[in-house]
Amino acid sequence: MATETNPRGPVSPSPAAGVLFDKVVKRFGDNTVLRELDFEISPGERVTLIGPSGSGKTTILRLLMTLEQPDGGVIWVNGDSLSHMDRGGRLVPADERHRRGVRKKIGMVFQQFNLFPNMKVLRNLTEAPVHVLGLSRDEAEERARRLLDMVGLADRIDAHPAHLSGGQQQRVAIARALAMEPEVLLLDEVTSALDPELVAGVQNLLRDIARESDLTMLCVTHEMGFARDISDRVLMFDQGQVVEEGPPDKIFNDPAEQRTRDFLQAILNA
Ligand SMILES: Nc1ncnc2c1ncn2[C@@H]1O[C@H](COP(=O)(O)OP(=O)(O)OP(=O)(O)O)[C@@H](O)[C@H]1O
Ligand SMILES: [Mg+2]
Repeated sequence: MATETNPRGPVSPSPAAGVLFDKVVKRFGDNTVLRELDFEISPGERVTLIGPSGSGKTTILRLLMTLEQPDGGVIWVNGDSLSHMDRGGRLVPADERHRRGVRKKIGMVFQQFNLFPNMKVLRNLTEAPVHVLGLSRDEAEERARRLLDMVGLADRIDAHPAHLSGGQQQRVAIARALAMEPEVLLLDEVTSALDPELVAGVQNLLRDIARESDLTMLCVTHEMGFARDISDRVLMFDQGQVVEEGPPDKIFNDPAEQRTRDFLQAILNA
């Protein structure tokens, strides 16, 4: 969807729900990581991004979290732009209040967990709901207890992150993301820092969440079995562009592009 320009500035294209990257450009110095990237995720859809190291997968997720700003194009999340806001039918640069409002719709789980190390598990889950969503402590704690129960860690509510295994920390991180009741959940190689015996527990939890919720999910993973289980669609991404996309069976069993075949072969041999 092109954002038209007129003498008064870009006109709001009023996009539908879901996630939309409209000609998004991202550069780091003279390294252009995203080249007018277009892609769309429907509400409730589960999309997995695959592609070589350094191709820009994490950058896509960080842009959605507003941890990075695009150098061009517009990113839309359920009808709102991350970088622009509507002023009487015209798009003007977003202010911090608008950005915070859109960011609240998105949760992210990182490869390295990124829990607050100085806070107990409970506080890791209640901090943002209290300070960002304005929940009372009691409401936030009730929500936290329910989620810790769901991820199987109700008995570790008073633990410090350093006293948990990697798998437990990642399950807390997933619960922390869900405590914000996001509309979109971003997962960046969430099992790749785990010891092999802890991977299945975290993957099973995410499979359950995918099955039982209507969250829109964007997942970066090298675990093809996991990608196959949770995704409706797989995007092969390289050199700033989507190389090809399709249902997991098609991409993993019968990819059309040589670059996808080479990438999958390299992963199998890794
Ligand atoms: N903050 C930054 N400053 C400078 N360059 C960066 C920054 N973040 C990412 N890059 C560069 O952008 C490119 C894409 O990085 P990104 O982390 O998005 O790749 P990736 O696809 O997630 O790779 P991996 O599979 O290894 O995680 C790389 O060339 C990286 O060096
Ligand atoms: Mg990455």
